[in-house]
Amino acid sequence: MPDKNFLNDFPILQSKMNGHQIAYLDNGATTQKPESVVRAGCGYYGSCNANPHRGVYELSVRSTKVYEDARKKIAAFINSPGISEVIFTKNATESLNLVAYSYGLHNLNAGDEILLTISEHHSNLVPWQQVAKATGAELKYIYLAPDGNLSEKDIEEKITGKTKILAVTQVSNVLGLKNDVKTLAAKVHNAGGIVAVDGSQSVPHIPVDVQDLDADFLAFSGHKMLAPMGIGVLYGRKKILEEMPPFLTGGDMIEYVTEQDTTFAELPQKFEAGTQNVGGAAGLSAATDYLLKVGFDEIEKIEKDLTQYAIAELKKLPYVELYGCDSERDNKIGIVTFNVKDVHPHDVATILDSEGVAIRAGHHCAQPLMKFLGQNATCRASFYFYNTPGDVERLVAAVQKVRKVMHLA
Ligand code: ALA
Repeated sequence: MPDKNFLNDFPILQSKMNGHQIAYLDNGATTQKPESVVRAGCGYYGSCNANPHRGVYELSVRSTKVYEDARKKIAAFINSPGISEVIFTKNATESLNLVAYSYGLHNLNAGDEILLTISEHHSNLVPWQQVAKATGAELKYIYLAPDGNLSEKDIEEKITGKTKILAVTQVSNVLGLKNDVKTLAAKVHNAGGIVAVDGSQSVPHIPVDVQDLDADFLAFSGHKMLAPMGIGVLYGRKKILEEMPPFLTGGDMIEYVTEQDTTFAELPQKFEAGTQNVGGAAGLSAATDYLLKVGFDEIEKIEKDLTQYAIAELKKLPYVELYGCDSERDNKIGIVTFNVKDVHPHDVATILDSEGVAIRAGHHCAQPLMKFLGQNATCRASFYFYNTPGDVERLVAAVQKVRKVMHLA
């Protein structure tokens, strides 16, 4: 079990919720921020704030440097072959919409297929539905095997010459199971398609190397990896990005504008219209520094231990049903999804809240997956490296109280 104490870096984790020290287990939704990230954001506004790329005066030059240094840091963090392939957005949702609207709308036609997995978050599913409606392309799904992993049979049968794009999450935000994106990408490329990876639940937890995965696109959010809300990333393969039209148009993404027409800026500015979130980029840069200092070996080990501990303890409770917790593959990343028999997940989450335990309950923005699992909603505990075995014990103790509070035991 981990013995590192990160709490000093995260004062919010020492605060109270309903009179109890908080056990924050909703890291799949958003993570807490270390002081170094808070300082980086405030520091930017305290000493460098000006509109980047637009001014010749020193403050604007400083702002541009903060922003572009963050881009360099992110390029190295995901092993992008270049810096211009890293586009800042507001979050993974915007990144995935950019891919759908700018790539999908202009490259798909009737008869083409968009392949998704049934585990996709709505952000990597709803935009593709819109593209399918507009282009006449067809949506196909890879479903799950009983252990929650992608069905090998579906993978073999559904990746065909018609597959123009596979939209796949690297880690399910509901089941926490990691998909073998590298193998999927190789199969889709062999069939002539491209791959858009939702890295929202993977980039914060495991090392992600876009070149090793051979991903054409990778989207992720800063706020799920210690950074502020409002800053996200889209990595794209350079050749593909160069051929795509802009997604949003306006300031700073142009080369030259006449009354009737516009030529566009080079990458990455072509996809960054309007004043950007430089304070967020400064925070994201500090967040990657923090994560690299802890190290992904350590992060993965802590989260794996916490996850296995939680699963083992919850399995001892006969009235708890777990989902995606029986994979024999070593591919479970920090998420435990469950229900308490005869109790609505919102009631479970409310009772846990009264004990100071923060989890998410609901459909987790993955309604097609919920339907596939035969549930309307579930409870989800999602861990990060700063959680402790004590947090797991608090979760389990609070779950043990649920049926009593509901007068079922
Ligand atoms: N996508 C976030 C989650 O899974 C909000 O909770």
